Amino acid sequence: MSVHKEIKKVTTHILQEMKNRGEKISMLTAYDYSMAKIIDKAGIDVILVGDSASNVMAGYETTLPITLDEMIYHAKSVVRAVDRALVVVDLPFGTYQSNSKEALSSAIRIMKETGAGAVKLEGGMESEESIKRILSAGIPIMGHLGLTPQSINKFGTYAVRAKDDEEASRLVEDAYLLQELGCFAIVLEKIPASLTSRISEIKIPIIGIGAGAADGQVLVMHDMLGITQEFSPRFLRRYADLDAVITSAVTNYISDVKSGDFPNEQEQY
Ligand code: KIV
Repeated sequence: MSVHKEIKKVTTHILQEMKNRGEKISMLTAYDYSMAKIIDKAGIDVILVGDSASNVMAGYETTLPITLDEMIYHAKSVVRAVDRALVVVDLPFGTYQSNSKEALSSAIRIMKETGAGAVKLEGGMESEESIKRILSAGIPIMGHLGLTPQSINKFGTYAVRAKDDEEASRLVEDAYLLQELGCFAIVLEKIPASLTSRISEIKIPIIGIGAGAADGQVLVMHDMLGITQEFSPRFLRRYADLDAVITSAVTNYISDVKSGDFPNEQEQY
């Protein structure tokens, strides 16, 4: 029997067990109560309150502008909805890079104010001190390597990362470092699938997004549901076209209101 069927509440330990048993881990983003409730009920293993909220909820071009207070607001809404999934919250840009003390106080705010189960942060060796300090307070960390959107101004593009030997070797080193430091999982974003295979010896769960086969997969919910239309990378599989569904429902509603068809006799008191 799979681990998935038995568990009431997903923890970091359950994810490790799933990896050990070869059971794949499903992960999606959510930023609000209603959507989190639906995906939790559907059985998703991990809900990421991603800083992609900056793009899909707030309409910014990058993930950089979202603040810690805004992330906490989103995370609180999600945690209130969730019974089963592990909720992981992104530490937003500027809240952990300057020094490890600030990193710890940002992570503590997230854990204390939201009730989430873990935080995620981007980077490898450059984040080592912050990772150590956060972990020393008993806060679980999910790492994030490869395309790290908070560094978009350094990269200059959202193209596939680590295609050259130097960047690929650095990523492998970083992945082993995150494991050694005590991170419970790592997200690998937009890297060659062959590079993900190179670190298949890593013991902690690897969650891919545009990184080929891994222990689990993550997508931004608004992308996989077809709410966002303009974003179409090769790795994105769309499971619904909610843009079309919502547009059709709203145009029908407008036309029923304009024609006087809504409300009818049964729809009033
Ligand atoms: O913020 C986010 O949604 C993420 C995922 C793309 C992994 O970090």
